[in-house]
Amino acid sequence: GVMSDITGLSKLEQQLQNKLGITKAIIVPGDSDQSPWIKRELGKACAVCMKNRLKAENIIAVTGGSTIAAVAEMLPPELGEKKLLFVPARGGLGHDVNNQASTISAIMASKTNSQHQVFYVPDQVSSEIYESFIKEPMVIEMLSLIKSADIVLHGIGDAITMAERRSTSPEVMDKIIKGNAVGEAFGYYFNEDGEIVHKVQTIGIQLTDLNEADFVIAVAGGASKAKAIRAYMKQAPESTILVTDEGAARILIRG
Ligand code: BG6
Repeated sequence: GVMSDITGLSKLEQQLQNKLGITKAIIVPGDSDQSPWIKRELGKACAVCMKNRLKAENIIAVTGGSTIAAVAEMLPPELGEKKLLFVPARGGLGHDVNNQASTISAIMASKTNSQHQVFYVPDQVSSEIYESFIKEPMVIEMLSLIKSADIVLHGIGDAITMAERRSTSPEVMDKIIKGNAVGEAFGYYFNEDGEIVHKVQTIGIQLTDLNEADFVIAVAGGASKAKAIRAYMKQAPESTILVTDEGAARILIRG
């Protein structure tokens, strides 16, 4: 019955958070690989988790991806009773405008009648452009705002899926494949041991900045993402809250 499912999952949540060494694991029933609407359930669970933890004023940095886009759709207006400022966590990391961090942060702000700030950064720039770009006063100001985020909300992807989704050069693709990357988050590609195999040069939150946030919410589900989640969690800060589904969790608990 429903009750035993709930208690069953909360036991699984406890096991998973211990196993991954994180603050909390939240598991929704189902598998988002099988049924796309489970992403909306992840979104709902994420919204509840945020609501309970908001301070009077919050800067919330968000990444892109279809999962975080689903979170945006599920944010209730009440969240905006607290003061929220949404910012993209990193510059452009993909080509699908709908699922880009800037777009998602704007949607989150509009769903909660809150503020957001856009950050236009060219995608995967050359190192010369990158070096001069980060010296621009406007960029410096935006970067310090992003890095002062109280909450970071991000997705986790399968390494090859993400590399293919971005127009990754054949050389970098080779590096990712040869390095046995299985997971990706924030433009970092990780192998099964959680080691960084490759990092996309974009401007914004770096892995080490995550320690500065009050808490970090990772939202990722589906059995196909279990390996990616496990790999990234080896690097994740202790303040991490994982919002996932049963499909991913049942595999994670075994490995
Ligand atoms: C991207 C994030 O936009 O979303 C990545 O920058 C993450 O770090 C990815 O891996 C996940 O995408 P999805 O569509 O599987 O939620």
